[in-house]
Amino acid sequence: MEPKLVETLTGWRRHLHAHPELSLQERNTAAFVCDRLKELGIPFEAGVGGNGVVATLTRGASNRSVGLRADMDALPILEATGLPYASSHSGVMHACGHDGHTTSLLGAAALLAADPSWNGTVRLIFQPGEEGYGGAEAMLKDGVLERFPMERVFAYHNWPGLEAGTIAVHDGPVMAGGMRIHIVLDGRASHAGMPHLSHDPVVATGHVIVALQSIVARNVDPLESAVVTIGMVQAGTAPNQVPAQAALHGTARFFRPAVEKLLDESIHRVVEGIAATMGVKAEIDLSDRVPATVNTSAEATLAAEAAAEAGLTVRRDLAPAMTSEDFSHFLLKRPGAFLWVGNGPVESGTGLHNPRYNFNDAILPSAATALAAAAKRALREGV
Ligand code: NI
Repeated sequence: MEPKLVETLTGWRRHLHAHPELSLQERNTAAFVCDRLKELGIPFEAGVGGNGVVATLTRGASNRSVGLRADMDALPILEATGLPYASSHSGVMHACGHDGHTTSLLGAAALLAADPSWNGTVRLIFQPGEEGYGGAEAMLKDGVLERFPMERVFAYHNWPGLEAGTIAVHDGPVMAGGMRIHIVLDGRASHAGMPHLSHDPVVATGHVIVALQSIVARNVDPLESAVVTIGMVQAGTAPNQVPAQAALHGTARFFRPAVEKLLDESIHRVVEGIAATMGVKAEIDLSDRVPATVNTSAEATLAAEAAAEAGLTVRRDLAPAMTSEDFSHFLLKRPGAFLWVGNGPVESGTGLHNPRYNFNDAILPSAATALAAAAKRALREGV
């Protein structure tokens, strides 16, 4: 990549980093993307599935088509990097590198726009609301695949801990499926010194948390992968009162639909059983479901070969992660692959979703090149 483009992309990435927007509020980010597309002379449509933007690059007479997707949203995290371009929106931070993903896709657009060696149509999909807010589904519901036809789809996530700029391509599962767990235990309040008058949701909460751990230990086949984590517990306002209600929030992760079903049934059984035992009422809501992100074999090979052909280092030996990614919804509709691009070494406190995380600008050329290379090869080979 030419040094001038690297410099431009770095400037764009730092601008986005300094101006993060929460999921479904990415109006200025989308406007920034549209302005850059205008400068590049690439036609686009904004407002696809909310703040989504879809740009279209066409060259030659081929009717082959391919989609490249990036996410645009930030997280409700207070940044602690101390960088000169740190977030100017207190409590909002690009702590997952979606600023880098958006910039990389603009970089791929710039590379493809300047490259006469390909033939067909490339769709550039800038997606809102990836962080658990249904952005991919919203774009699909708004007809992104019908209005902007594409035969295959590719995207990437930066990966701290993997050598900077190295491309990792999985055959099959890349990231886990997930669902949010919301549990409300309804009891009866009392004076803390008269617990016999209560139906104590706090004691029930303790039992529920411990019992939920038995699902992965005793219900899921040990050769399968699953996670049940309760990350938030809320109850009470006074130390000398038994409160009326307690709430638990968490997440469950899985790779296969059969395990998702087992987790769903087991969470209901365990929580309802404990609630009945402890004399409280349980409300269980398992929501925001994301399927596992699974690469199709042919497209994984295609993306890996394209990256290697473009001179990038490629690894095919990495295990999948239990994080989730809503690009999985695109992969249920079209063959494709979700790549990882190494973000370089990770220290304690600098991983994804962390206040000291930062996207590594040095990987922008590799990421943009890998996306552009996958698109070109997909158009060349056909489905
Ligand atoms: Ni992310």
